Amino acid sequence: MIEIENLDVRYGRTHVVRNVSLSVGAGESFALVGESGSGKSTILKALAGQAPSWTGRLALAGEPIEHRRTPSLARRVQMVFQDPYGSLHPRRTVDDTLAEPLSIHGIGERDRRVLAMLDAVGLAARFRFRLPHQLSGGQRQRVAIARALMLEPPILLLDEPTSALDVSVQAEILNLLKTLRAERRLTYLLVTHDLPVAAFLCDRLAVLRAGEIVETAPIADLRAHQLRSAYGRELVSLSLGGSSRGHASP
Ligand SMILES: Nc1ncnc2c1ncn2[C@@H]1O[C@H](COP(=O)(O)OP(=O)(O)OP(=O)(O)O)[C@@H](O)[C@H]1O
Ligand SMILES: [Mg+2]
Repeated sequence: MIEIENLDVRYGRTHVVRNVSLSVGAGESFALVGESGSGKSTILKALAGQAPSWTGRLALAGEPIEHRRTPSLARRVQMVFQDPYGSLHPRRTVDDTLAEPLSIHGIGERDRRVLAMLDAVGLAARFRFRLPHQLSGGQRQRVAIARALMLEPPILLLDEPTSALDVSVQAEILNLLKTLRAERRLTYLLVTHDLPVAAFLCDRLAVLRAGEIVETAPIADLRAHQLRSAYGRELVSLSLGGSSRGHASP
């Protein structure tokens, strides 16, 4: 469902993703972990048609992707970001936000689809005409997930989807993502600093350092603290010791 072969991304003369290859099967959930600046978000942006210049081969749902965001790409893949406030338009109601992709792509049954999606992400119909500032952080992230699913893409790219939320709300959103994946047979590529999040939601992971994959492993190896690379083990011990980012232990 997601194929990345020999991906290189440069911002000007800075080489931020180096010869990355990985593939994610249909229905699989794959985590990208690694320190800040290691190129995790850049890989997602390239897949979403939002990275400026890359080389290599990228394919989603069996079709190669181009360097820009085409309508066909939007129907195959959508992104969910860390900060649901920043990613929602402050003066658009939930209804406007959810209906916008439908009108852009000429899809009908607006009301039915908006109401069904609110229900799918666990928001009551009364939230439909609220503005983002009238919602809690968790509710806003539910809206962002709903918007990502309006075109029914088979793939979601999730960039730290819970790290801006309180711990109790994080658990709710993680459970929602797990349920949606099972119900809709979605494929996830998830970026996180938080190893317990990867352990909860993913089947496999890749450890990135300075733009390179240092290890790819099944999630059982993460849970058993049996990553092979020295850097992967260092991330696990930082997470267990309570890293400087203040994340909970697995
Ligand atoms: N638009 C840009 N122009 C120039 N450099 C950029 C740009 N976006 C990202 N970078 C650089 O590319 C590198 C990788 O950034 P990226 O956002 O992919 O890291 P990340 O792994 O997602 O980090 P974080 O965990 O902090 O989100 C960083 O060194 C960053 O400074
Ligand atoms: Mg990032």
